[in-house]
Amino acid sequence: MAGGAFAPTSGKGKEYPGKFTGRVLLTCIFAATGDLIFGYDLGISGGVTSMDVFLKKFFPDVYKRESSVKPSDDQYCKFDSQILTLFTSSLYLSALVSSIFASMATRKYGRRPTMMTSGLLFAAGAIVNGLAMNVPMLIIGRLLLGFGIGCANQSVPIYLSEVAPYKYRGALNMTFQLFITIGILIANFLNFAFAKWIEGEMAWRLNLGGVIVPGLIIFIGSCLLPDTPNSEIERGNYDRAKEQLLKLRKVDNVDEEFNDLVEASEKAKLVQHAWLNIFERKYRPQLFFAFCIPMFQQLTGMNVIVFYAPILFKTIGFGSNASLFSSLITGIVNMLATFVSISTVDKFGRKKLFLYGGLQMLVSQIVITIAIAMKFGLSGNPGVISNGYAYTVVVFICVYVAAFAWSWGPLGWLVPSEIFPLEVRSTAQSITVSVNMIITFVIAQIFTAMLCHLKFGLFICFAVCVIVMSIVIYKLLPETKGVPIEEMTTVWRNHPHWSKYFYEDDAKFETNKSIVIGILLSLFLVFILRLA
Ligand code: BGC
Repeated sequence: MAGGAFAPTSGKGKEYPGKFTGRVLLTCIFAATGDLIFGYDLGISGGVTSMDVFLKKFFPDVYKRESSVKPSDDQYCKFDSQILTLFTSSLYLSALVSSIFASMATRKYGRRPTMMTSGLLFAAGAIVNGLAMNVPMLIIGRLLLGFGIGCANQSVPIYLSEVAPYKYRGALNMTFQLFITIGILIANFLNFAFAKWIEGEMAWRLNLGGVIVPGLIIFIGSCLLPDTPNSEIERGNYDRAKEQLLKLRKVDNVDEEFNDLVEASEKAKLVQHAWLNIFERKYRPQLFFAFCIPMFQQLTGMNVIVFYAPILFKTIGFGSNASLFSSLITGIVNMLATFVSISTVDKFGRKKLFLYGGLQMLVSQIVITIAIAMKFGLSGNPGVISNGYAYTVVVFICVYVAAFAWSWGPLGWLVPSEIFPLEVRSTAQSITVSVNMIITFVIAQIFTAMLCHLKFGLFICFAVCVIVMSIVIYKLLPETKGVPIEEMTTVWRNHPHWSKYFYEDDAKFETNKSIVIGILLSLFLVFILRLA
């Protein structure tokens, strides 16, 4: 689920008794379903928008332009259409809006009602998209799916992290990303299989309508499962909370954990304005990364591949099936490489993976740029494309995807979730999700225009971003490997750059700086939205 479970702590480093019960397993399956849908929606639109039957029906102008372009013509602009990209991007805009409302609903009404709503929205979006007769229906369907993703992104990770015994929470955090990649892979596979084996419109209708199955699983599942102990406590139902906790942990005595949950809830209630508090000077170092990490994750350019690999492959001369097949290969690489991260993140640490992944992405982006520049130049006219050329491009795109999958992919969610203290963690999570969604929206919306105008320079633009982000990580991010979450503040206090935020005179900074930063961030968001 947007990978973003924030991992609450055991509380003061204690060990609570508790087993990995059947109930916990069921919840994990849920979270996985939410993630699969997120991944599926990420991966499905690129395949569908590269299908001729789909383009003919909804975007006849793009189809005409694409099919009339001869191999000897400029290839860069054949898919350039803002309406076509709106089909992909609209989902992320509505996900952004709904995750803000869902965060309030999750607190006020509990996690379950928000999860049920997400299931219903997924099912509704799938029906509207599967039966779509015109572009507005397509966009409305995507918007509904986006609303569902916003609700699920907010509620499922919280539900999961509150239900799972604390010692499994770290591992679960990383499996979020794994399930996103599995969702993308399923989408890539169905894009390829349906286009190859199913005739006519049915191929894309099944692709888009298929989300109804996981949507209903989430809906029915959340009708059957109870709410979390934390949510019951938050709403004053102490007896029910204890009963739930006993059932979840399957042990005779849960008093210690229960009392800590009550204490944490009381403390959280004292934090009246988390949205203002988070701008206090002492959270500034972490806040910087809550913005930068999701923004940088998207500026790696990975979603150009996830959303538009089939279009990219078609642009560089592959046939329809070869494009979808090559995208399927990138999907497999993306999923497999995620295991590397899962198994090494606690051994090598976050920084090393960020930096190594960045370097590998940079090298492959440069090679891909040279390959496209040599063949297509500025005119966009490739002449004859040899097999060797096609293989080289696919191999280097896979090298790039693997680098993302073992670095910025999972770490882009893990690191922001573990650097904040409990009292502002949920708010920080909303910021991370929102920034991620905004930049995802922007990239999805402007990709075909970027390709048309920047030509082979497309990946150079992302390569420059990778250099900047690697420098920021190297200089400013402290290593958080093996640091208990409740002691996380010490790594910031001891960092040469950030220590001043803890030791200098607070009064000097507090008032004006918060306001200035607030204004700057708002201006930045307005700027990004205007760009879109
Ligand atoms: C990112 C998505 C991306 C996916 C690729 C996720 O961590 O947030 O935007 O499509 O990884 O695997």
